[in-house]
Amino acid sequence: MNQKSILITGGAGFIGSHLVKFFLDHYSYKIVTLDLLTYAGNLENLEGYLDHPNHIFVKGSIGDEQTLNTIFKEHLTSDVIHLAAESHVDRSISNPIAFVETNVLGTVTLLNVAKNHWGKDSGHRFHHVSTDEVYGSLGNEGLFHETTAYDPRSPYSASKASSDHFVSAYHHTYGLDIVISNCSNNYGSHQFPEKLIPLMINNICEKKPLPVYGEGVNVRDWLWVKDHVSAIDVIFHKGKIGETYNIGGNEERRNIDLVHELCEVMDELLNRKPGSSKQLITFVKDRAGHDLRYAIDARKIKAELGWEPSISFKKGLKATAKWYLENKDWLSRIVNGEYKSYYESHYKS
Ligand code: NAD
Ligand code: DAU
Repeated sequence: MNQKSILITGGAGFIGSHLVKFFLDHYSYKIVTLDLLTYAGNLENLEGYLDHPNHIFVKGSIGDEQTLNTIFKEHLTSDVIHLAAESHVDRSISNPIAFVETNVLGTVTLLNVAKNHWGKDSGHRFHHVSTDEVYGSLGNEGLFHETTAYDPRSPYSASKASSDHFVSAYHHTYGLDIVISNCSNNYGSHQFPEKLIPLMINNICEKKPLPVYGEGVNVRDWLWVKDHVSAIDVIFHKGKIGETYNIGGNEERRNIDLVHELCEVMDELLNRKPGSSKQLITFVKDRAGHDLRYAIDARKIKAELGWEPSISFKKGLKATAKWYLENKDWLSRIVNGEYKSYYESHYKS
């Protein structure tokens, strides 16, 4: 059988870079990473893998049909795993249009190119990576199931919900072989420090205020990024065409409780007086339309594909905090903007 040639979009981002490295480590597939290297894309995340013989990195946009056609033609793309997106809710509140352009138009452009190259029921797989936020917000009880009606409430989740609908529509209308996965909040190494956990880690290190939105009572379910990657692995290889799979860590936390837990871990790792980081907590104005609670029912992926999370949040949080402390240069190059020159120094001489 011919070697698979998988296009992974958004592979220089947080989750995408973990996925690219996992696939290169575990399979002999050709991996083509397409990433526009927006503020969130960081080629350093792929350090050690840029010269891998089975890896090709392309700087470009999922919204650029010509670039996509060239990739599909030159690399005989057999499958797509699509992660490229604008991913931060706060940014979607201040600039919703960018989310429509990338998450909606970009996804449809990619779907269209895949359909034109592959045709109907081709056996080529389009795996769309999405979020639990499409289901809206839960009260204190209940879980999101694969059958829960979509009810997106932020411009980010509305754009992801729209992209999910287009992926489904391309399956039903044109026979594209798709799978969709919707997962909860990821955490782990290489996450851009605008998201809750790395932002708090950075601020604790710098002894800066820890901004907790509202009263800190919003609940998120936390998923170790490497567990998310192993879930994508099983869904991509064994998931049923046309199906959706929810992925969750089964680790719900109120934000304020998570921040307390992190402060304790950081005090220990930094040899600071117990309780000192908690003094940095500052309650700030709430996020507009802040969803109260997300929680996932991940029984389907467990029953059908045998996947479940491998690590507790307690362990994962400590490992994450350690990684950031051992990679302070990675973090400071982002904070001072230097990470942007990595592409130029590696690809343009
Ligand atoms: P991220 O912001 O870290 O990475 C996104 C990547 O996409 C970046 O490398 C960026 O440069 C790239 N990108 C943006 N626009 C592009 C374009 N037009 N063309 C090509 N590349 C482009 O995001 P992440 O946290 O790694 O999330 C990856 C995917 O997983 C997203 O689709 C997101 O919606 C989804 N997701 C994330 C989480 C989470 O907790 N982080 C949870 C559920 C779902
Ligand atoms: O649920 C999956 C989603 O998780 C993904 O689809 C998104 O791409 C990802 O960004 C994440 O969205 P959240 O909005 O939940 O993540 P964020 O890290 O921005 O915020 C987590 C919670 O912490 C949320 O309730 C808002 C709160 N928060 C966040 C920041 C950045 C704070 O209290 N203070 C902060 O400074």
